[in-house]
Amino acid sequence: MSENRYLTFALGKGRLANKTMELFEKVGITCDEMKEKDSRKLIFVNEELKLKFFLSKGPDVPTYVEYGAADIGVVGKDTIMEENRRVYEVLDLGYGKCRMCVCGPGSARELLKHHEMIRVATKYPNIAKDYFYNMKHQTVDIIKLNGSVELGPIVKLSDVIVDIVETGSTLKENGLEVLEEICPLSARMIVNQVSMQMEPERIKKLITDLRNHVKGKGEVS
Ligand code: PRP
Repeated sequence: MSENRYLTFALGKGRLANKTMELFEKVGITCDEMKEKDSRKLIFVNEELKLKFFLSKGPDVPTYVEYGAADIGVVGKDTIMEENRRVYEVLDLGYGKCRMCVCGPGSARELLKHHEMIRVATKYPNIAKDYFYNMKHQTVDIIKLNGSVELGPIVKLSDVIVDIVETGSTLKENGLEVLEEICPLSARMIVNQVSMQMEPERIKKLITDLRNHVKGKGEVS
């Protein structure tokens, strides 16, 4: 592939993008333009290194990567699982660690044990379906919410929720607890399948450099 081709990165806007750029800098992937505070720009370029970066909503990152609008993306494992796009997941970056869990009031524990028909509120209907239908073989009614999912059991919309737990303080402050753990989560790097074949050296070098750096810091198991 031409040496002049830009390598394009899609990053989920916000904290994850900042952490990602901190890590990328350590392996020489830099973009000064992105450091401008209060900028509303969505695309940033490093002309010298032929790199482009754009910021999108997290759940859209796998979409950009699947369609080749970005060669590489960085996004949470939760989003990768929920979106289920055809991309290569190549590296656990070791930050953004949390857990996908079934949560609710302690009293809901029994409902999970006895495979009762229950209502599950979640931002992640595909993950919830896979867990209850395929792993637990429990028929449930899944209700999609867009945030503040902890409200579900409190206002009796649902019996339990499927959501991310990081520190556990949102649950605690709302009288809820972890009832079952579905899986651990963290930030992952994903790659477009065609890009991997067209630019194997450039992309594999980046993965190796990042892996060595992350391992060196002891952040990846
Ligand atoms: C996430 C998640 C939980 C909370 C967990 O919500 O959905 O509500 O963080 O974090 P904790 O265990 O450290 O309390 P987010 O802040 O992304 O907002 P949302 O509820 O609008 O999705």
